[in-house]
Amino acid sequence: MSIMKQNTIIKLENVHVNLKSNVETIKALKGINLNILANRSISIMGHSGAGKSTLAMTIAGLESVTEGKVFYKGKAIHDLKEDELADYRSKNVGIIFQSFNLLPSMTALENVNLPLEISRDFIDDKKSIKLLETVGLKNRVSHYPHELSGGEQQRVAIARSLISSPEILIADEPTGNLDKKNSKEVIELIFQLQKNHKSTLILVTHDKSLADLCDETITLDNGLII
Ligand SMILES: Nc1ncnc2c1ncn2[C@@H]1O[C@H](COP(=O)(O)OP(=O)(O)OP(=O)(O)O)[C@@H](O)[C@H]1O
Ligand SMILES: [Mg+2]
Repeated sequence: MSIMKQNTIIKLENVHVNLKSNVETIKALKGINLNILANRSISIMGHSGAGKSTLAMTIAGLESVTEGKVFYKGKAIHDLKEDELADYRSKNVGIIFQSFNLLPSMTALENVNLPLEISRDFIDDKKSIKLLETVGLKNRVSHYPHELSGGEQQRVAIARSLISSPEILIADEPTGNLDKKNSKEVIELIFQLQKNHKSTLILVTHDKSLADLCDETITLDNGLII
């Protein structure tokens, strides 16, 4: 029997993550306890190197846990095998990175369809094109990333993050590479889509004014929540 509250979507218990570089092992997370409620927005703040991206990628199932436990709706994901983890990611998590991470050889539409391609799900171009319309790119469907502005590329990445209708949307400094005007538009879009899709938003940001838009904020320092 789970003793977790029904609306908890992600729970971390004493999570440690060690990252090995070629010179040393860095303790990026040193015992994180965290409860994230469904359909809410939470921001992760903290100085550079504090462990924000590591925490976000751990929740996304892209970083493996050295010690501790991670639960998604009460189901343990910290000890899943690689293929099960890939399945968890593709079904439940959408990720938006600071650097867009689009594939240069694919059009906007193909980039949006990529998660479905990876999970071998049915691809419905009508749905993907509609999503591109939603993010204001109706007339950029067949453009390649190098033919798009930074703001437009980030919109493609946002559309891509939502193509599988994920319950969890993780945005790691999504406006870090955008100017003020594009930042504002992209952030408004992310919050609007989060509400429409009833997803849980995890927003990594340095910007206090963006963090304040979230229901809750946690601050990391040196691998711990302060
Ligand atoms: N692949 C890696 N190998 C080894 N150490 C890493 C690796 N990636 C990050 N680190 C280290 O782990 C710590 C946490 O990094 P992380 O990227 O989570 O920080 P962050 O809070 O997201 O910082 P920023 O605001 O600069 O993006 C840092 O000390 C960093 O140097
Ligand atoms: Mg980071």
